[in-house]
Amino acid sequence: MSHPFAEYRRLFPILQQAAQLSSCSQSAMSLPVRDAITQYLDGWEKRGMDWGGWMEGVAGARAEFARLIGASLDDIAVLGSVSDAASSVVSSLSFPAERRYVVASTLDFPSLCHVWLAQEPRGAKVRFVEGRPGVDDAAARLSAAVADDTAVVAVSHASFYDGQLTDLAASAQAAHEHGALQFVDAYQSAGSVPIDVVAQGVDVLAAGAQKYLLGIPGIAFLYVSPARAAQLQPAVTGWFGRVEPFAFDPRKLDFPATGAKFNTGTPPMLPAAAAHAALRLLNEIGVEAIQGWLRQLSAVAMAEADALGLEVVSPRNLDAKGGNTAIRVAGASAVEQAMAQRGYIVSARNDVIRIAPHFYNTVDEVAGAVRTLAELVNG
Ligand SMILES: Cc1ncc(COP(=O)(O)O)c(C=O)c1O
Repeated sequence: MSHPFAEYRRLFPILQQAAQLSSCSQSAMSLPVRDAITQYLDGWEKRGMDWGGWMEGVAGARAEFARLIGASLDDIAVLGSVSDAASSVVSSLSFPAERRYVVASTLDFPSLCHVWLAQEPRGAKVRFVEGRPGVDDAAARLSAAVADDTAVVAVSHASFYDGQLTDLAASAQAAHEHGALQFVDAYQSAGSVPIDVVAQGVDVLAAGAQKYLLGIPGIAFLYVSPARAAQLQPAVTGWFGRVEPFAFDPRKLDFPATGAKFNTGTPPMLPAAAAHAALRLLNEIGVEAIQGWLRQLSAVAMAEADALGLEVVSPRNLDAKGGNTAIRVAGASAVEQAMAQRGYIVSARNDVIRIAPHFYNTVDEVAGAVRTLAELVNG
């Protein structure tokens, strides 16, 4: 199987000495991202201040993220984390007794569930759907719990645990049939699974830069559809959420009509500069092509794991999983360390090792990681 992105490997220096397969946690550093960070530091050192350049970086990152998901720059706000994005969105909602439920899965990233639970003093209740690893009908399972009492349907597009996908269009339809808002956590899918927010009817979507988006922590993008943005007003805000942030009028609280109303304080400018470079690279390659390669690598990981008697936790159906293949092992954290010593950077969560390649990884790297895992587990 020839590697369609072989020429890009030179942009990721770590690949010369290690197989970084941890895109579900932190993807590999690329030279364009390193350059963007260096340029930021150089500008700061030499010019002292460069607000114009810094703001251009933020706008560039918003534009590239918008392009990645089929949205417009104005639909995108920039926050510090996906958890912050969820808190901002939920601050714009009220939870009357007749519509108080947030429907969420136990396979969602816990931080999101914590944000929903934190709304209980405001009247909300969380209805948990028991997530089942490895399934390929996550949207149907979630949708069955949505009713006319539902305010928010929380969707983890790709689960952090086993990479199982929840169909965005189907979960949006279930939410909308019952008058609920769909909130998509795309942190484990953006950059590895194509997203078209308009075609898929997404209301709200958030993703950070550190995982498949090839960036660094400290920044998350929040998309709010134009229709929802027109209805919602966040209670979490700041000067960058104003129509004219540089008007400096303490008495005037106005909001742009678009998703930009969810901006808060000074944006994370250094992570935005990194994200701008990273997203440009991703858009140049194209997420559909990336997904195609990751599916092949998933098939390799699962076949190798089966042959070696390892237990795959992720969905077998390649259409129902993202880039992460989770394999159950005892003492996963210690195994992660042992793998790193052998040149395979993978990521442990609970009772699994996640092998999460990106477009720059090869079949040999993935197969080698599974073989090394088997050696460690089987002794
Ligand atoms: C699916 C998913 N959502 C959210 C988060 C946490 O995001 P943040 O730390 O930006 O709030 C993670 C982190 O691993 C994640 O995997």
